[in-house]
Amino acid sequence: MINKLIFLGPPGAGKGTQAQKLEKDYGYKKISTGDILREEVSKSTDLGKLASQYMERGLLVPDDVMIQIIKKWVNKFDKFVLDGFPRTLKQAEELEKIVPIDRVIYFEITKDEVIKRLSARRICPKCKVVYNLLTNPPKNDEICDLCGSKLERRHDDAPEVINKRFEVYEKQTLPLLEFYNSKDLLIKIDASGNIDEVYQRLKKVLFYQV
Ligand code: AP5
Repeated sequence: MINKLIFLGPPGAGKGTQAQKLEKDYGYKKISTGDILREEVSKSTDLGKLASQYMERGLLVPDDVMIQIIKKWVNKFDKFVLDGFPRTLKQAEELEKIVPIDRVIYFEITKDEVIKRLSARRICPKCKVVYNLLTNPPKNDEICDLCGSKLERRHDDAPEVINKRFEVYEKQTLPLLEFYNSKDLLIKIDASGNIDEVYQRLKKVLFYQV
C-alpha cells in the first residue's frame, strides 16, 4: 500500500493542487508546510512572525523550526501527502528518522510555465483552496466556491520573490532528487498540461503501475 507520500517540485508546479485532489478522492491528508506557516503568519504567533521574515523574501525557514513542526503532524495520520517538506537534505535525513515514506513524486515542469501559473494564482485565506484566474478560476469573480471568502494573492507570488524562490529551490531542494532516487523511492511525472491531465498521470503511477 502506498500511504505516505512526498510531493517534490519547483514552486508553482501544482503540488498543492494535486495533493488537494488526492485528499478529496482518496483520503490522503494534505500536510502542506506552506499552509501551516501561512496560518501562523495570519495569526501573528511567534512562529508566524519568525517565518514571515523568511517567506517574504523567498527564503527557507530554518531546518530546526520546520522539523519540529513536521514531527507534530506526521504521526497523527496513517495516510498523507507531504506538500513542501522536505526542502533540504537535513530535513530529508531527519524525516527518515521520524517516519518511513512509501513514494516521492517529482513534478517536472519548466520555469516559464510555473511563472505563468503563479502570476494568476489566488488562494482562499479560510479553507486554503487554490485557484488560478486563467486555468482554474472560481465560479464567481475572486470568491471561494466553497466558503464564499474573498480570494487573496500570496505575498510571495510577486515576480521578484518568485525568482528568489526558484533560485533557493535549485540550490537547496533539487539535491533531494538524487537522495530519493538512490533509495529507489523517486517517481517523476510530467507536470505540464491541465490539472486533470496531471491528475491522470499521478493516479497511474500511484495506483496502476506500482
Ligand atoms: P510553499 O507554500 O510550499 O510554496 P512552494 O513550494 O513554492 O509551492 P507553491 O505552493 O508555490 O506551488 P505548488 O506546487 O503547490 O503549486 P499550486 O498547486 O499552488 O512554501 C512557501 C514558503 O514557505 C517557502 O518559500 C518557505 O519560505 C516556507 N516553507 C514551506 N515549507 C518549508 C520547508 N519545508 N522548509 C523551509 N521553509 C519552508 O499551483 C500553482 C498555480 O497553478 C495555482 O494557481 C493552480 O491553480 C495552478 N495550477 C496547478 N496545476 C495546474 C495545471 N496542471 N495547469 C494549469 N494550472 C495549474
